[in-house]
Amino acid sequence: MTEFDTITKRRYHQAGWHPGLRESATFDRNTIHEIQRAAREGIYDIRGWGAKRRVPHFDDLLFLGASVSRYPLEGYRERCDTDVVLGTRYAKKPLHIDIPITIAGMSFGALSAPAKEALGRGASALGTSTTTGDGGMTPEERQSSKTLVYQLLPSRYGMNPDDLRKADAIEVVVGQGAKPGGGGMLLGQKISDRVADMRDLPKGIDQRSACRHPDWTGPDDLEIKIEELREITDWEKPIFIKIGATRTYFDVALAVKAGADVIVLDGMQGGTAATQDVFIEHVGIPILAAIPQAVESLRELGMHREVQLIVSGGIRNGADAAKALALGADAVSIGVGALIALGDNSPEYEEGYEEIGSSAGYYDDWHEGRDPVGISTQDDELAARFDPELGGRRLANYLRTMTLEAQTLARACGKSHVHNLEPEDLVALTIEAAAMARVPLAGTGWIPGREGAGA
Ligand SMILES: Cc1cc2nc3c(=O)[nH]c(=O)nc-3n(C[C@H](O)[C@H](O)[C@H](O)COP(=O)(O)O)c2cc1C
Repeated sequence: MTEFDTITKRRYHQAGWHPGLRESATFDRNTIHEIQRAAREGIYDIRGWGAKRRVPHFDDLLFLGASVSRYPLEGYRERCDTDVVLGTRYAKKPLHIDIPITIAGMSFGALSAPAKEALGRGASALGTSTTTGDGGMTPEERQSSKTLVYQLLPSRYGMNPDDLRKADAIEVVVGQGAKPGGGGMLLGQKISDRVADMRDLPKGIDQRSACRHPDWTGPDDLEIKIEELREITDWEKPIFIKIGATRTYFDVALAVKAGADVIVLDGMQGGTAATQDVFIEHVGIPILAAIPQAVESLRELGMHREVQLIVSGGIRNGADAAKALALGADAVSIGVGALIALGDNSPEYEEGYEEIGSSAGYYDDWHEGRDPVGISTQDDELAARFDPELGGRRLANYLRTMTLEAQTLARACGKSHVHNLEPEDLVALTIEAAAMARVPLAGTGWIPGREGAGA
């Protein structure tokens, strides 16, 4: 290579061009980096957040909106309601929430106590529910949450029968979308005295939660377990069953048979505090594909809208929420979106992220407990940086915005309640999304897999 060539090449590189250097689509830079990391460390990568690669999602759907054949509702004069009742099947005290967006279960341990408190504050400000997680209920969380769902997990970490009675509903966690078939992880650096005490486990030791419940192995046992929970709580509280989206049609039918009041369905893009990357990216199905399966199962049992369906996994805004409702869900639940609203990955903390080898917008090492924002940590000094009142206000604003967005779209489709949205309001941009969501490809009447559907 001549000196001229070298100089020219350097200039190209400086301008961000790499002529003649071709990246492999199969062995791209992330793949190369991961092979090098594995070769160095000899263990799989663990991280938080959800799936990062692109899979069919709500962005692949569009609302048709009203025109001549339908008429829209007026934004500022005509009502579009958003309230939801959860647990109408058996519970004496179903939950009445004001918006169709709830806060998903996230563990105290994964998140700091002030972060959990902020989730309660934000949810309560908008009249919706928040959820405990692995590791039990903190008093701050109970106090700040008007409506609190208590999770019963395979690990039983932090499980306290008195807390079952203090909760407004109980969620039996069978699985999570990020890791169906897998258990939770909480690494030693996040096991503070308080976390260890609540979980009855030693401080500073890595904890791997069980992937299945110790006292039941199938749907018949689950039925007995649910009966027990109803007895303990005097048949007052709705019982939710949370499943990761896999064989959804059958899992939903079995959950209904076991006695669920509400089914929480978490798709593969769903967030996690700490899981093997290979699990996050390669197990489960996208929520877009799972909702129609769940709705079909509920319909065939005559239980659609009788057993409510809450869905989650990559929900970011009011459009995602409205599309999930149009496909037949009663409400959606959010995890990662809520953490971002609290301040996670905020550029305000760029310096802090750089110090730990990350950057705002990319930080997913939530398991390490070094979060400069103070959300996914148990380090007292870092946690003290986070203001639960401010975080709660930001979350409330985010929930309010999502609700306004969903209402705007519902009104444009002529609906006076967000629950009146229906698959007929949607079209798909790709054949994959049309087949999964079971709505027509835009501009056609074609739903792949359904012969004879007309234009
Ligand atoms: C930090 C964090 C902690 C979590 N902890 C739990 C947990 O303890 N129990 C559980 O059932 N799910 C847990 N999840 C999963 C959420 O409940 C929910 O299913 C998921 O975050 C929804 O997807 P989204 O984050 O894309 O909104 C956790 C998620 C995150 C991000």
